[in-house]
Amino acid sequence: MSRLASSLCGIELRNPVLAASGTFAYGLEFAGLVDLAELGGLVVKGLSREPMDGNPPPRIWEAEGGMINSIGLQNIGVRAFVRDKLPALAKIPTAVFANVFGYSTADYVEVVRVLEGEAGLAGYELNVSCPNTQHGGIFFSNDTALLAEVVEAVCRVARRPVIVKLSPNVARIEPLARAAEQAGAAAISLVNTFVALAVDARHRRPRIGAGFGGLSGPAIKPIALRLVYEAARAVSIPVVGLGGIATGEDAAEFLVAGATAVQVGTATFWDPSSPLRVARELERFLKEEKIASVREMVGTLRMKENE
Ligand code: SIN
Repeated sequence: MSRLASSLCGIELRNPVLAASGTFAYGLEFAGLVDLAELGGLVVKGLSREPMDGNPPPRIWEAEGGMINSIGLQNIGVRAFVRDKLPALAKIPTAVFANVFGYSTADYVEVVRVLEGEAGLAGYELNVSCPNTQHGGIFFSNDTALLAEVVEAVCRVARRPVIVKLSPNVARIEPLARAAEQAGAAAISLVNTFVALAVDARHRRPRIGAGFGGLSGPAIKPIALRLVYEAARAVSIPVVGLGGIATGEDAAEFLVAGATAVQVGTATFWDPSSPLRVARELERFLKEEKIASVREMVGTLRMKENE
């Protein structure tokens, strides 16, 4: 068995590196650039009950060490996804997760209900952390009661594992991680983006059309690592780590901090094959460190408080 073989919520993964939602379209668009079958898995962009146009441009700004986006969950809607994307996605031998967005609990439930009738998905990632809409999204992951309500409602209709994607824009991550776990989440993923502002001082305007956006990329990695570490210590379900991962060693850092698997997002903007490259580099790291299985690394950080 490969050193990279992993499992997440009972799903066998070729490797623990997934392409993150929102940076890998519906996966199929990358087929000419990346052998999708080699991915550990992929998470499609957020799907809503009805198609969404997203936010006014500009929607992306390259910041120091990262990127600010305010796409606003532009997507084709769950029914068009099922009709136009899922049949081809289902043929790819990798774990495909549907990222699900809603303005209300009923929206999340409806999107999952539609997807439950279809083959070809490994599980769901509930996006309760998008900072770029006026309702829904991030508002669910700032409040343990709201979070529990949406996760419980979705878990009642979902037969596949539900991963809850948490926001980093909170004072303490532990109560939210625990609320997701107690409400039935099979795993949590973190972090989504940090609410941020880029300013054009000459024109005295924000650089992003919607005003604020979400910061991602290497600039956020140390904060993401801290949050993954704290969340992993608070729950017994698996944690999927993301936030600025661009190399195999970055991925190794997240595994050591407590992640069972990782996602690569912003790095695909400068290297579309980065999820595969990160997996290859991680394998090299394991060989160099003489580690037989990636599973051995998970949660092995020797922090003073654990010694
Ligand atoms: C967006 O579509 O605005 C980004 C998605 C997210 O942050 O979850």
